[in-house]
Amino acid sequence: MPEPVAPAATAPAGRVRLRGVERTFPTTDGARTVLRDVSLDVEAGEIIAVVGPSGCGKSTLLRLIGGLDAPTAGAIALDDEEVRAHDDTTAIAFQEPRLLPWRTIAQNVAIGLPRGTRGRAAKERVAELLELVGLSHAAEQRPREVSGGMAQRASLARALARSPRVLLLDEPFGALDALTRLKMHDLLLDIHRAQPTTVVLVTHDVEEALYLADHVLLLRNLHAAQAEPERPRARVVALGSTSGMGALGPARTPDPVPAAADLEPRRSGSIARLVPVPGSRPRDRGARSFTDLRSALLDGLGVHKLTTQENA
Ligand SMILES: Nc1ncnc2c1ncn2[C@@H]1O[C@H](COP(=O)(O)OP(=O)(O)OP(=O)(O)O)[C@@H](O)[C@H]1O
Ligand SMILES: [Mg+2]
Repeated sequence: MPEPVAPAATAPAGRVRLRGVERTFPTTDGARTVLRDVSLDVEAGEIIAVVGPSGCGKSTLLRLIGGLDAPTAGAIALDDEEVRAHDDTTAIAFQEPRLLPWRTIAQNVAIGLPRGTRGRAAKERVAELLELVGLSHAAEQRPREVSGGMAQRASLARALARSPRVLLLDEPFGALDALTRLKMHDLLLDIHRAQPTTVVLVTHDVEEALYLADHVLLLRNLHAAQAEPERPRARVVALGSTSGMGALGPARTPDPVPAAADLEPRRSGSIARLVPVPGSRPRDRGARSFTDLRSALLDGLGVHKLTTQENA
């Protein structure tokens, strides 16, 4: 793994706020609400992990924060500015590296540079990013010539190229083998130290969430839950309307981040739990302090403890 390098000229990490966010999709059987009543603060520089059963809306949430999709109700702001489509201040990386096969690793990373970055500045920034992710030696190789882990590191470097204030990662390590995944965790922490950015990480892996995140957000699948009582709908805020930003003010909603002791599931909406992870990074993966948290999260994911024969 590469040593962390000196911080590049980065934009400061961004603070993300969501208030009463809902996303409903039209379907042939009528409308289907995938996310409901999502209110959340992600502080600048924080790493938040999003876990939840398949189909509960994790990727949808990430797309909303990245401005790739718009909420049907509620509001999302990055540093008090409403999130816009094609916002240059966020970057997203996925489970598959999505590199262009006919371009070299360096050229793929360069795709992520801010518009107008050319010549020597572009070359130097790409070299710096490749060093950050330990790929300097592979700069001239094509994606098919490198391993899955290397391709994923190139994808991370491409996402970091524009020095995003918010880095959105959708199961970025899900397709990697176990050892490579563990190495990628430490690489992500190195990157986070070298280029402080706010990270929203979607993962299926509770251990990964506990190792990396400051908070873990557990989402529930609205359609697997029992019928909930009717509640007033969140106010719709049109994207691009500055008047809607009032909805993000502190007066509208109490701080949605619960006290440290809040391990109790929430009763309605998409957020089942939002829990702080104790201890500072790097963490001990086997820490006993995680035991209750791990059980609560696994329980929320529908993975119940197996009864062992040990005490029988
Ligand atoms: N553009 C769309 N139109 C209609 N339905 C959609 C659209 N995008 C997502 N959905 C639906 O929203 C639900 C949530 O999808 P999403 O991809 O966010 O889930 P997820 O939690 O990321 O799942 P996974 O863990 O399998 O990746 C799914 O039922 C999906 O079919
Ligand atoms: Mg997904």
